[in-house]
Amino acid sequence: MNIASKQSKAFTINDFKIRKKNGIPISVITCFDYAFARILEGTDIDVILVGDSLGNVFAGYETTIPVTIDQMIYHSAIVKRGALSKLVVIDMPFMSYHVSIEDALRNAGRMIKETGVGAVKLEGGRDFKDIIRALTKASIPVMGHLGLTPQSVHKLGGYSIQGREEEQRKMLIEDAMILEEAGACSIVLEKIPLSLSKEISERLSIPTIGIGAGRFCDGQVLVINDLLGITKEFNPKFVKKYADLHTVSRNAFDSYDREVKERSFPSEEYSYK
Ligand code: KIV
Repeated sequence: MNIASKQSKAFTINDFKIRKKNGIPISVITCFDYAFARILEGTDIDVILVGDSLGNVFAGYETTIPVTIDQMIYHSAIVKRGALSKLVVIDMPFMSYHVSIEDALRNAGRMIKETGVGAVKLEGGRDFKDIIRALTKASIPVMGHLGLTPQSVHKLGGYSIQGREEEQRKMLIEDAMILEEAGACSIVLEKIPLSLSKEISERLSIPTIGIGAGRFCDGQVLVINDLLGITKEFNPKFVKKYADLHTVSRNAFDSYDREVKERSFPSEEYSYK
């Protein structure tokens, strides 16, 4: 397939609403590096998210809170270089959009300009409506993120399911509608009950992208390391492992180590005459 025909098929920001209208699900996956971005470039996955979950799975932090703007820019530029035809969304890290509208605009502008990605994502509800409105007005598309918002782990007291109590449920439905009204192009719903994501999805004309939010969302997102089964220790109910790269990698490392120590690698086949 040549680049022109591939690009004409590429998912753009307009496709969020078109897919929602036509009831066609949207597939989103996180990515943090060039090698996987190259693989994703050849797939039909619709959107790549450079999530600040890279703080956990790439950098080994306990939370996403330490992730910086520079780190997000570094990874997003790499991913975009590997997946030129894809819509890439960059997560705005903790405290990059909390101080003021001006600060959020400056940070988001830098993140877009220095990476070439097509949209930003930020966590939170009604408190961020003016920021979403200002970014949208500045031609920076915004993906919202409600439910379990990992940057608020200290406020939430952990990573438990959100929206189980009636009052919180009502707040989340209202927040979703406020985000749509403010101009969000789509909303990630993380770790909320099925019935709640169903109700939110039915009320919005922009798509919901679920992670731990069940099948009624308009799209789904998974973290690449979880989907590929790279991390052995993280096994929440909502993660389906489509591969076991942990075992594949471990076996490869062990075989290499053994062959080096047995002097069976490099054999003739891997040596220059
Ligand atoms: O940071 C991230 O990877 C995310 C997804 C879990 C939606 O926000």
